[in-house]
Amino acid sequence: MTQSREPVGVIGVGWVGLVTASCFAELGHPVIARDILPEKVASLSRGETTIHEPGLDELLVRNAERLTFTTEMAELLDAARLLFVCVDTPPTRSGDADLSRVRAVVEELPADGEHVLIMKSTVPAGTGEAIRRDRPGLPYVSCPEFLKEGTAVADFMHPDRVVIGADAGDEAASDSVAGLYEPLGGELVRTDVASAEMIKLASNAFLATKISFVNEIANVCEEVGADVGEVARGMGLDQRIGPSFLRAGIGYGGSCFPKDLKALKQLAGNTGYHFQLLTAVIEVNELQKRRVVQKLNNHLGSLVGKRIALLGLAFKPDTDDMREASSLVLAPRLQGEGAEVVAYDPVAGDAARELLEGVELRDSAIAALEGADAAVLVTEWGEFAALDWSDAASRMARPLLIDGRNFLDPKKLVEAGFEYEGIGRAVAHEVAGRPS
Ligand SMILES: NC(=O)c1ccc[n+]([C@@H]2O[C@H](COP(=O)([O-])OP(=O)(O)OC[C@H]3O[C@@H](n4cnc5c(N)ncnc54)[C@H](O)[C@@H]3O)[C@@H](O)[C@H]2O)c1
Repeated sequence: MTQSREPVGVIGVGWVGLVTASCFAELGHPVIARDILPEKVASLSRGETTIHEPGLDELLVRNAERLTFTTEMAELLDAARLLFVCVDTPPTRSGDADLSRVRAVVEELPADGEHVLIMKSTVPAGTGEAIRRDRPGLPYVSCPEFLKEGTAVADFMHPDRVVIGADAGDEAASDSVAGLYEPLGGELVRTDVASAEMIKLASNAFLATKISFVNEIANVCEEVGADVGEVARGMGLDQRIGPSFLRAGIGYGGSCFPKDLKALKQLAGNTGYHFQLLTAVIEVNELQKRRVVQKLNNHLGSLVGKRIALLGLAFKPDTDDMREASSLVLAPRLQGEGAEVVAYDPVAGDAARELLEGVELRDSAIAALEGADAAVLVTEWGEFAALDWSDAASRMARPLLIDGRNFLDPKKLVEAGFEYEGIGRAVAHEVAGRPS
């Protein structure tokens, strides 16, 4: 006889909540997920995904019988003891994390010693301690999420590590959470709540620091004629450094890095500590998004009346998430310089339409490039690598491409008739001995 698995409750069905719900259902758990948006709950109940995330549709279909979506907290509390809180924690004007949604959820949970609050939302260190103080009798476990949009399902199912933070008195709750994750095989980091909260914030801050660091190296490479791709390759082979997050480009965006960095800087500031390094990381990122405009100026002079095509709008490929995307800064900057902006994104077009005023959205890359004076690759969608670039060059008023993600092969683009410029990339001279 197969043993039935422990039911799981999920509160907040956005990127993190929907992936968490679907993946636990895939592991055989009955899952009940609650959101306050009736239209979201209705589409999910019909089996229609609300976000673009590879592999998620299949999980929803395959596990439809184990997944229930509801707007009712009471239904969730009846069905499940282990409750994952996955609501959004956006930044306030001060840069602090807005915990109002987390607080609203906590107020609805009974402190009956039965139900367990498992915090997946990213919250400032100290949040767990405050909730435990206010709600004794509500076992609390911090279980921050590290998934990446675009590979969220795979990240959840094959985690590098799972962090589980609990304080004295909540050992049984912590063991229950560890039991849920054991089949996934990632290293379990069992620790206290404050350390678990800091692991999440420090991880994002460190990754963003790597990006801003390599972007500054790229800017220096441009001055001295070095190639940042070669530099990053040479650096990344050092095991102390590692190769990931060393790709230069036009800066990070998305729903996590910008807000989590601000929140950590603010958290430190609230204690009287000025986190200098983080301040610089954030500033470098802001400036990096704007460097494209200078590059276009160098080639085209004034941008007044020039048509610029943006390829990709989402903050990264394989997602339709537009939160803090570099395109949201770049498009208005170009319009501010007097340029006419046309754009194409394989999936984020609808999400972008409301956010990018005055930007003409086209339904293919070639259509966006037609008649353009220059193109900027903003998001490294795979389909751009497979584009017929010779055809594209022949359709543009001037075949000039600024590769904001160092994604395309410069040699191929030059052969196709393009003037090509990446970020910190040496194009003019070939690197002796480098395999092409
Ligand atoms: N998106 C990511 O890649 C990612 C990765 C790791 C961690 N996180 C963190 O996870 C949290 C959630 O992020 P997200 O991107 O999934 O957010 P999201 O905005 O996509 O989803 C949040 C959901 O919570 C719902 N909600 C709000 N209040 C609610 C309530 N009282 N009851 C039930 N539902 C409620 C919203 O309607 C929304 O559907 C954030 O703290 C974020 O920082 C996100």
